[in-house]
Amino acid sequence: MNILITGGNGFIGSHTIISLREHYPHARLVIADNLTNSTLETFTNLKKLVKEGIEFYNINICNEEEVATLFINYSFNAVIHFAGLKAVGESVEKPLKYYRNNLISTLNLVKYCLIYDVGKFVFSSSATVYGNGESPFIESHSLLPTSNPYGETKAICERILIDVANTNPEFCVSILRYFNPIGAHESGLIGEAPNGIPNNLMPYITKVAKGELETLHVFGNGYPTIDGTGVRDYIHIMDLADGHVAALVNLKPGVNIYNLGTGNGTSVLQLIDTFEKVNGVKIPYKIVNPRSGDLATIYADARKAERELNWNAKRSIEDMCRDAWNFAKNTVTI
Ligand code: WQD
Repeated sequence: MNILITGGNGFIGSHTIISLREHYPHARLVIADNLTNSTLETFTNLKKLVKEGIEFYNINICNEEEVATLFINYSFNAVIHFAGLKAVGESVEKPLKYYRNNLISTLNLVKYCLIYDVGKFVFSSSATVYGNGESPFIESHSLLPTSNPYGETKAICERILIDVANTNPEFCVSILRYFNPIGAHESGLIGEAPNGIPNNLMPYITKVAKGELETLHVFGNGYPTIDGTGVRDYIHIMDLADGHVAALVNLKPGVNIYNLGTGNGTSVLQLIDTFEKVNGVKIPYKIVNPRSGDLATIYADARKAERELNWNAKRSIEDMCRDAWNFAKNTVTI
């Protein structure tokens, strides 16, 4: 079995490769990644964990010729498409960059899947496509407008895949809508290591824990939640990774959409508190104004994936905090 993993060097892609290797010991795992938001060090560490049958190509999948060459050289059985730009704030500043990158890459891949009869496609989507609807989000909800171009690119890619699958019955698609993945592989060899000042909560917490940033800014404490801070459905990255394998193994004809979340919400202050207790470190924080565009509460209805993929998230918030710190404390970032 040959599996193409675009963006396989990124946070979610790299962890999924470990789950793929466990489930498919003999598969050839081919990464296409242009290192936009990752480094070769991740691949080096990934190789220590996965050992054999993994190949890396520094390819931009917006470049159709490079995609064509890859599909000619390998007879892929499946594609898992992670590659994409994902910074919400930057997408507002540079919408064209986001539309161009995230849409052209997906169009190229789908085109070559159809040409070379690759009938298994797993797409990395996001809970952001639910827009500002009411939690728990359920897959059958009609989608509301998203609040930023990044989210819009995910919604448009979903539509493209649905339309293509409608007229190509042999093209089977699983769309996975992620909630908030955090944590790291238990080895501590790979994890989430954004450079600069992180946008997301857990990488910010770990930078404060390391002393690289002084204080965590908690964006608002006036929300109608348990303690006034924002509530999210955090999911351990290895549970999310296992969800991709479950999606691939249980791929059905047509397009099937699954939430990958735990179904539980955790507030910002609850996450900080758990991180401090589990790791024995202090996270100094101050409450600041809410971040524009944030919703009070976001969590999944995760029952469809349990029913149809026989998958559910097993790891706890404690596991997520321990593993995130286990990785971050030894990692040098810029
Ligand atoms: C979580 C909570 C913040 C940082 C984003 C994207 C979404 C998806 C996942 C990919 C919120 C609060 C955060 C900080 C804080 N990405 N917070 N201080 O916004 O739920 O989702 O990442 O698909 O599309 O929008 O995640 O980690 O940024 O925030 O208080 O420094 O932490 O207000 O309540 P978010 P997040």
